[in-house]
Amino acid sequence: MKKLLAFIFLLINISSLSAQNTGERQPLSIVPYPLSVKAFAPKFIVSRHTIIRVDANNADLQKIAQTMAGALKDLIGYSIAISTNKGGNVPNSIVLTLNHTADTLGEEGYRLSVHSGGIIIRANKSQGIFYGLQTFKQLLPAKVGNASTVAVPFTEIIDKPRFKWRGSMLDVGRYFYSVDFIKKYLDYMAMYKLNTFHWHLTEDHGWRIEIKKYPKLTQVGAWRAGTQYDRSPNQVDNNPHGGYYTQDQVREIVAYAQDRYITVVPEIEMPGHSLAALVAYPELSCTGGPFKMPLQWGIQKDVYCPGNEQTFKFLEDVLTEVAALFPSPIIHIGGDECPKDRWKTCPKCQARIKAEGLKDEHELQSYFIKRIENFLLTKNKRIIGWDEILEGGLAPNATVMSWRGIEGGIAAAKQHHDVVMTPSNFMYFDYYQGEPYHEPIAIGGMLTLEKVYAYEPVPAALSADEAVYIKGVQANVWSEFIHSAEKVEYMLFPRVAAMAEVAWTQPRLKNWEGFKERMEGQYKRYDAMGINYSKSAYNVWQNIKIDALNKKATITLTTNSSRPEIHYTTDASEPALTSPVYKTPFETRTPAIIKSATFKNGKQISKVSVSAVNPENDAFETH
Ligand code: ACM
Ligand code: ZN
Repeated sequence: MKKLLAFIFLLINISSLSAQNTGERQPLSIVPYPLSVKAFAPKFIVSRHTIIRVDANNADLQKIAQTMAGALKDLIGYSIAISTNKGGNVPNSIVLTLNHTADTLGEEGYRLSVHSGGIIIRANKSQGIFYGLQTFKQLLPAKVGNASTVAVPFTEIIDKPRFKWRGSMLDVGRYFYSVDFIKKYLDYMAMYKLNTFHWHLTEDHGWRIEIKKYPKLTQVGAWRAGTQYDRSPNQVDNNPHGGYYTQDQVREIVAYAQDRYITVVPEIEMPGHSLAALVAYPELSCTGGPFKMPLQWGIQKDVYCPGNEQTFKFLEDVLTEVAALFPSPIIHIGGDECPKDRWKTCPKCQARIKAEGLKDEHELQSYFIKRIENFLLTKNKRIIGWDEILEGGLAPNATVMSWRGIEGGIAAAKQHHDVVMTPSNFMYFDYYQGEPYHEPIAIGGMLTLEKVYAYEPVPAALSADEAVYIKGVQANVWSEFIHSAEKVEYMLFPRVAAMAEVAWTQPRLKNWEGFKERMEGQYKRYDAMGINYSKSAYNVWQNIKIDALNKKATITLTTNSSRPEIHYTTDASEPALTSPVYKTPFETRTPAIIKSATFKNGKQISKVSVSAVNPENDAFETH
């Protein structure tokens, strides 16, 4: 992957990243922030006498009611009753109803009212009720101690999403995660109203989905002898690694996702990132192999041979099984990072280029993707692919996932193709989220919470007519250096909260100061849920401007947290509560060693940031 080359640790002043308008205070700690919120001081008390009432004969609402009762039980220790909604005004009830009063809410919107008589969630569709429930859960305290009741603040919320595709990708090809963890991942997505799980199921380093017709894909292609765990290609462990999802497990996960109104979009990579399949079936390659499962990260040159009819037969068989397993109307076919080396010297590929009147290997890739698109259309499935599918000509009905920046998205939208924006510099959650010396190993890059939050998915280069093709936005968790479920959580949280607000909330309502404040409430929830979230937002960025001539420097200290209490020193001593509190940029004589940390309620809550400021070489170093 190109990302491997991107180990540039920019010591940038991240505070210069544009924060959105700072408007009025955002009273409730809801993420993503709703379209309209009115909050009032009194509270409704949920107690043993409260009843959840749902429309009769609606199994979907019954299920949501049970989830709601479960969430309340987790807090108060007992289940409240669920009964059928017969209409009328029954006090002390929580009503879930599709008897809506506003048609502007669309398929996913909802209205949530909490008042003295109780709580009511209304929507056009059960999906809206489900999102109302997610908001409701965020009105509850993270914990209630021993109390047997819970107080819900009076509020009037009207809400609906900005984008239709609110995605999150997990790369299970490079590292295998359990079915239980995939379910957790789906729960996390649901909590933030994300609705599209992009499941990256096949890679050079592992094939993870059972295909009945080709058992060697998982007998052979799902297993490898070790894993590269650090930068150097020599840093490979000897721990056999692998795993795959049986078709029964896939169905189980798809059903679990459906209960959370999440579409699972499977990705079957082609023509590149396919070495695991070629290890199992080398006859599908240009050279015929044999191949070994790779242990080191990076792009592999051996890819499917499009000169060989057998390749298409194989992929059509695989996609036939995949199409039957996933109700999603769209299937991801990869398309990224396919080196053309083998095709250039393969007689079969060259013969195909000639026979089809293609100009070059890029057009051969385009031929490949178009053939697959045509096949999948016979199964009533459209394709989505990474932005390389633009090269050599886009397949007529393809959606483009823009990852190498925003240009692919712009080009596709201008050609009136649907687009999902996932530019690596804003949406790749395998990047660092803080100063690398504070962080576990990541692929590279620098993607702070603030930078995720600042992302605007509709490129300025598009006209209003073209902008409608931007269907949404997606975060991607690639797993070269993410080798446990706990680390997925660390890389995902809290950035997924910022991404969710990019995907859901209207830009005029985004508010970086308000978001940081609301995140304090979210962190309490993560603690209560046992999520291994990153606390890097509390770490201090030390921006240093050296005035070498006068042997001094101006120091600016920032964090990605709300109103941080930062204590600092300039004499290399450890910052403590007794150290000066940072208020505004300050000057210090140089050389100096600057240390700082964030404190809360008398306790240090961040790591200690350190910079050695040396005017002699007009530079400073961290750690
Ligand atoms: C990608 O990151 N290769 C899509
Ligand atoms: Zn070939």
